[in-house]
Amino acid sequence: MEIGKNSTKTCLPAIALAQARRAGRPNFQFLISTFRERLQIMKPTIVIVGCGRVGTALAKFLSEAGYRLSGLASKSLSSAKRVADLTGTEHFTKIPWEITKEADIIFLTTPDAAISDTCNSIVSNGGFKRDSVVLHCSGALPSTILSAAKGCGAFIGSMHPMQSFALNEGNGSPFHGIIFAVEGDIQALHIAAKIAVDLGADCIPIKTQDKTLYHAAAVVASNYLVTLLSLAFRLIEHAGISGSDAWKVLKPLIEGTLSNIEKAGIPAALTGPIARGDIETVKRHIEEIGKKSPELLDLYNALGFHTIDIAKSKGTLSEKSADILKKITKG
Ligand SMILES: NC(=O)c1ccc[n+]([C@@H]2O[C@H](COP(=O)([O-])OP(=O)(O)OC[C@H]3O[C@@H](n4cnc5c(N)ncnc54)[C@H](OP(=O)(O)O)[C@@H]3O)[C@@H](O)[C@H]2O)c1
Repeated sequence: MEIGKNSTKTCLPAIALAQARRAGRPNFQFLISTFRERLQIMKPTIVIVGCGRVGTALAKFLSEAGYRLSGLASKSLSSAKRVADLTGTEHFTKIPWEITKEADIIFLTTPDAAISDTCNSIVSNGGFKRDSVVLHCSGALPSTILSAAKGCGAFIGSMHPMQSFALNEGNGSPFHGIIFAVEGDIQALHIAAKIAVDLGADCIPIKTQDKTLYHAAAVVASNYLVTLLSLAFRLIEHAGISGSDAWKVLKPLIEGTLSNIEKAGIPAALTGPIARGDIETVKRHIEEIGKKSPELLDLYNALGFHTIDIAKSKGTLSEKSADILKKITKG
């Protein structure tokens, strides 16, 4: 079985109208006007291709925001069915073009490496209607990987949520208060901005050619923060504090620093030996790390080296001290 169908619980206005007409009910005119009103306020139909972490979150919270989820597709039928059950969506399938043909907005939320091929195979099967909007959520890739969809008369765009998603359906919306970076065709941008607002998020425009650096920034802020804290944890363990206590000890410092950055920004939030020009302390760090865990020294030095310019721009480090510290941290 390639396509599934859940029994629909929603009584669409068209169905209600047809039922009323058949039954010859006296409030027929009222139903007609209600139908017209509801058509006007009806949000566009959405299809999601790729029912993983982001696809699931979009499906759940877009339908909660009133969008009409007309179908779900994924590589495995079980993933599509799981999200269909979660959202009460009627159609779910392994074959995207069976459901993308009629949709107003199509999200391709497969892994990055599969987005372009998925788009191309939908196009080969005549799968996007004219004036529909095709979006992906990759931070690293531009909207132009969807260019084939333009051949069907669709508009293309990318909207990247600056958020880390987990398959945790019980929690509140991961979209609340976040920023989507959007780029692509102007028609797609209008839709993306509306979707962002409806999800309780905001959006910023980004140039297509700037996406790689934008994504690099996200990687540094999230992934490399983990690397940075791993360095701190390993050093503090060498100082005799157990791994299980490391977070408890460092957490107030980490949170205080983030709070200072939020309040005062960079460079004002920088404190410590480099900001003070305390050359001897930095020398002792380097000597001791070299003895106890030399494999961490390159990273410690590289971070120190780049901290010097931040200290200089804060105005607390003299040129002379900065030159000495640069020599020391170059190794
Ligand atoms: N995760 C994050 O924190 C995050 C944050 C921002 C942006 N993004 C972006 O969001 C997009 C989706 O990421 P994700 O983390 O949600 O990925 P994911 O959890 O790995 O989910 C991807 C889903 O797509 C399905 N799939 C794989 N190949 C497919 C194909 N050819 N056709 C249809 N479905 C296919 C997968 O397979 P099954 O059907 O077998 O399950 C899976 O359900 C990516 O572009 C990613 O860069 C992710």
